Amino acid sequence: MNLNRRHAFAAVLGLGISACTPPPKEEAKKEGPPKVKKQPFGTTADGQAVELYTLTNAKGAEAAIMNYGATIVSVKVPDRGGAMADVVLGFDSYDPYPKQTSYFGATIGRYANRIGGAKFKLNGVEYKLAKNDGPNTLHGGLKGFDKRMWTVKELPGDVPALELSYLSKDGEENFPGNLQTTVTYKWNDTNELQMDYKATTDKDTVLNLTNHAYFNLAGHGEGDILSHELMIDADKLTPVDATLIPTGKIEKVDGTPFDFRKPTPIGQRIEDKNQQLKFGKGYDHNFVLNHVAASPTLAARVRDPKSGRVLEVLTTEPGIQFYTGNFLDGTLHGKGGKVYARRSAFTLETQHYPDSPNKPNFPSTTLKANSTFASTTIYRFTL
Ligand code: GLA
Repeated sequence: MNLNRRHAFAAVLGLGISACTPPPKEEAKKEGPPKVKKQPFGTTADGQAVELYTLTNAKGAEAAIMNYGATIVSVKVPDRGGAMADVVLGFDSYDPYPKQTSYFGATIGRYANRIGGAKFKLNGVEYKLAKNDGPNTLHGGLKGFDKRMWTVKELPGDVPALELSYLSKDGEENFPGNLQTTVTYKWNDTNELQMDYKATTDKDTVLNLTNHAYFNLAGHGEGDILSHELMIDADKLTPVDATLIPTGKIEKVDGTPFDFRKPTPIGQRIEDKNQQLKFGKGYDHNFVLNHVAASPTLAARVRDPKSGRVLEVLTTEPGIQFYTGNFLDGTLHGKGGKVYARRSAFTLETQHYPDSPNKPNFPSTTLKANSTFASTTIYRFTL
């Protein structure tokens, strides 16, 4: 509790200030500059102000989030020598964001990943969606949650935190039900970015929420990620067809380039002759996590041997999409003019499995009217 808050608290209780012990000097020092800094980041075509919120923890590490798309714009964390680098891909201002199709750092909804044939049935009614990825729907359709303006509230507490909320109206992108979604970002002093998702609906609907941050632990734009070592806690994956829709089978990773149960360089088998790798042009697959629990559990761990930086992803979700930036092609120039070449980043999108609304054997993505969905994912940056 900082000094001002102590005084306010004492005042509320009707206590004299003298009733409080003065805070230790260290604590007063820690207060320093504000933990959440808000800056203008651009203006949308319809005149709305885009704001960037930079969350700084006591170690001086930063995570920056904008209201457009509830998007992670940057994360600055130290290497083994203490040197800070920004490890996520993104842009220096709002303007390029709506013009790209890579979903850099965005919150994805109402349905993250693909829905096959751009349609699904719920309670006997067929819903037709936009075909924005060949014959399929990708990441919520033409204007998903990544392209919406979210309302931001700074949260009180010991660590810098934001709550972003968005109301997706009944019929938006043809999904049923008014869906109220919140994403809370907390950035604590051990460099954990915690994302808590909550959603409620007034009609039965389908829902799959994720974050689409692209990481390069050497720093964004610093070469490819093929030498990063990856562990995914998954014995199985959901293989896909040529349009990246799951076949419905759940297959073992044993003896395939998808076996990341022991840390393995991402690039070691990426060019193997394998039909799944061919379909994905690299890795672009949902892994079935071994351990699913009510509290976030380690799903994946990535280490960059050069910098020593490590990313651990913990989640309550049953799946994780591992994507190796196969569609990046060097045409996008990001922060500081850095070129984002093919495979210069990876994503680990915690989620329910793709196309679950059409796959009765997959964990259900139906959210019943008047019930609440909740999930948590943590990006933990360590060494
Ligand atoms: C997801 C998909 C990929 C690709 C990216 C965005 O990760 O699975 O196929 O579409 O989004 O480029």
